[in-house]
Amino acid sequence: MRKYDFPIFEHHPDLIYLDNAATTQKPKSVIDCLTQFYQNDYATIHRGVYQLSQAATQKVDDSRLATQRFVNAQHVEEIIFTRGTTEAINLVARSFAATQLKPGQTILVTELDHHANWVPWQQIAKEKGLGFEFIPINDRGEIDLEAAQKMIKERNVGLLALSHVSNALGTINPIEILIPMAKAVGAKVLIDGAQAASHVQIDVQALDCDFYCFSGHKCYGPTGIGVLYGKKALLKAMPPYQFGGDMVETVTQGYTTFAQLPEKFEAGTPPIAEIIALKPALEYLQGIGFLEIHRHEEALLIQATQALQAIPDLQIIGTAAQKAAVISFIMEGIHPHDIGTILDAENIAIRAGHHCAQPVMQHFQIPATARASFGVYNTSADVDRLVAAIEKVRTIFK
Ligand SMILES: Cc1ncc(COP(=O)(O)O)c(C=O)c1O
Repeated sequence: MRKYDFPIFEHHPDLIYLDNAATTQKPKSVIDCLTQFYQNDYATIHRGVYQLSQAATQKVDDSRLATQRFVNAQHVEEIIFTRGTTEAINLVARSFAATQLKPGQTILVTELDHHANWVPWQQIAKEKGLGFEFIPINDRGEIDLEAAQKMIKERNVGLLALSHVSNALGTINPIEILIPMAKAVGAKVLIDGAQAASHVQIDVQALDCDFYCFSGHKCYGPTGIGVLYGKKALLKAMPPYQFGGDMVETVTQGYTTFAQLPEKFEAGTPPIAEIIALKPALEYLQGIGFLEIHRHEEALLIQATQALQAIPDLQIIGTAAQKAAVISFIMEGIHPHDIGTILDAENIAIRAGHHCAQPVMQHFQIPATARASFGVYNTSADVDRLVAAIEKVRTIFK
């Protein structure tokens, strides 16, 4: 459908790229923006009195405004630029959880979560004497809402941190039910939107979550840039996460005062080009529109699910009623890595492994899955090629 927007498919006309949950390819507008900035407009931000620096600062400000609009945040200073989702979660763990949660309170995640939304909480919980537990999933890969209700009521939950969309199974979590459930007991809520930002319209005000984070590279933008949205009052009350230049007001031998939001959380020279090129990525998504993205990816998901279900000895892991275009599967007697290697010989890029979600693999008692994940440029013909290649894998191993 949109392969012509992505130069990589000119260089690899035969490539079927189905590893979009790991990272997405970049449209020409994003590549051009990076090239243009480095070639013609490059300078640092904030410090310069000269025109180039002022223009770069303006572009960074524009990108923050575009991001504010993208997630529908109330205030532009609620948008903090980070290196990615992982850094955004670590920031909240080290700043919010470390200082605002009290011993005896619990951090709740779900069995579906990526290691990025698991390990930072587990570590801070150990260090600060907080509880750390997960809400279980059922065998379709859906959060058990009864268990969630019970745990949220019975535990002293200080923070619920969960993914919007699961990277391992594609499950779209009912965050519009879980957020009010957690808020009813006074807990704060962080949503890991790493897998959602390229598929689902985000509205942080409608969701009423306290924190929402995502990575640029998974939504057609550059690597090294991510976003943390946080409610202004919370961010204001939180101490800085990293210290150094650009995040201070006054520095003396005896004391330092910190800058206002968002600079307070953006120590050091930021990834200027990547911040600037996040804007065309978000505009690319908005240009297509989330209704159209959903319609397109849902059709691919249905086509692929039906075709793969018909292959003997193949089992889809993760059959939630609400799914993004991600299909994890295993084949009897064939290791997922072998599936990936054979598909690679057919020029089809999929992922094989535990997808940084070992607790999910433990639930299904499997070491790994093969995973095909779809994006805006994939086509029905890509699905046909995937299915034919998997048939071939089966005949090789028979
Ligand atoms: C659900 C989820 N959360 C967090 C992350 C971490 O994102 P990043 O590596 O861009 O920080 C990923 C990446 O795969 C993910 O899928």
